Amino acid sequence: MASIQESFKNVMDWVDDRLPVTETYEKHMSKYYAPKNFNFWYYFGIFAFVVLINQLLTGVWLTMSYNPTGEGAFASVEYIMRDVEYGWMLRYMHSTGASAFFVVIYLHMFRGLMYGSYQKPRELIWLFGMLIYVALMAEGFFGYLLPWGNMSFWGAQVIVSLASAIPFVGEDIAVWVRGDFNMSGVTLNRFFALHVVLVPLVLLVLVVLHILALHEVGSNNPDGVDIKKHVDEDGKPLDGIPFHPFYTIGHDLPGTVIFLFIFCAVMFFYPDGGGYLIEHPNYEPADPLKTPELIAPVWYYTPFYSMLRAATFPLFGLDAKLWGLIVMAGAIAIPFVLPWLDKSPVKSIRYKGMGSKIFLALFVISFFILGYLGTVHPTPNKTLLAQVCTAIYFGYFLLMPWYTSVEKTKPVPERVTMK
Ligand code: HEM
Repeated sequence: MASIQESFKNVMDWVDDRLPVTETYEKHMSKYYAPKNFNFWYYFGIFAFVVLINQLLTGVWLTMSYNPTGEGAFASVEYIMRDVEYGWMLRYMHSTGASAFFVVIYLHMFRGLMYGSYQKPRELIWLFGMLIYVALMAEGFFGYLLPWGNMSFWGAQVIVSLASAIPFVGEDIAVWVRGDFNMSGVTLNRFFALHVVLVPLVLLVLVVLHILALHEVGSNNPDGVDIKKHVDEDGKPLDGIPFHPFYTIGHDLPGTVIFLFIFCAVMFFYPDGGGYLIEHPNYEPADPLKTPELIAPVWYYTPFYSMLRAATFPLFGLDAKLWGLIVMAGAIAIPFVLPWLDKSPVKSIRYKGMGSKIFLALFVISFFILGYLGTVHPTPNKTLLAQVCTAIYFGYFLLMPWYTSVEKTKPVPERVTMK
């Protein structure tokens, strides 16, 4: 009688003849050689993956009790919170997950900036990443309307009506997006369709492409050294180790456990994040006659919201509102071309010169300041500060071809360095 191993092998052989499961597993897991020197910053890709799964699963279960109509949406969220078994937990897992997604993604992107992971040959990984980021912003925006709270309503109202700043066609575009002359149940209904079907599908496809592109060229690392340059007699990189089991069990699993502890601490003890994760006006139903005292988007959009508000004067015949829209769209679009702006001969910040270090530090500081400014009422001084930070934000990108080509870099080691 065949042993269990033999039976398993027979089944796998049968499957492999029809679908290359083992080959795919080896290519992407057990024979995918990742650099030995991954550090803390290499946790966030897997965390993003964990949060994505969390959002998809809790989203499906929330949808079972949610009612996507202007009359029923707010009450159905209350029903989920109070009457559906563990509904409160599903909702908090999902709302905390939304913020966690952006925390993780921002750190993941920052790692890319630090280690030059967008540079040749990883441009496509970065481009898919940026598309994911834009899709994620859209997903968050559509999802935020669904509880039909007062901030949901007014936040979406402000953002959709921005379209009306576009000359000639703006007003028509706003009506087309809303499906109505004002925010209404029709808008809620279409945002629901986009939030639960279209954007998640796009996100999933993009994540698969992101990983395929990564595995085609191999991972970068904190030294920015190409590990394929030094291989053993079997062609395996001397500075690489198989992703599974070394990184899965030895790195990602313990990291994920710690991440989930932090996630649960926020979710159970601080789910509204003091008004930053769930904004206070959203505990009241949408009311077209009652504007919240301060309309501010959720924290992860506030840097861009600040840039939008920083445009306060007309220029070249275009009014301030349109400039705000151009600046905000430009701020989201400009990182797409990053791989072609960085002219440095080295990848990692460890070996780049002073210019790159100073600009990266200024960029991060201004991003934080812009994020804060987007959560408070504008004053003339705050607006001036937002304008300076906006200039730094763009300066980081637009001046990059200059400072990365003139600065003095340090020699890059031949092999990866380990502490
Ligand atoms: C749902 C969202 C995302 C998921 C699930 C995801 C997943 C991953 C994973 C698992 C890795 C390999 C492990 C690691 O390097 O941490 C990775 C690498 C990478 N990701 Fe993402 N990612 C996402 C979004 C993004 C975004 C928004 C960007 C940038 C705009 C980005 C840029 C990169 C880059 C450049 C690498 C290669 C890093 C290197 O090799 O040093 N990713 N991603």
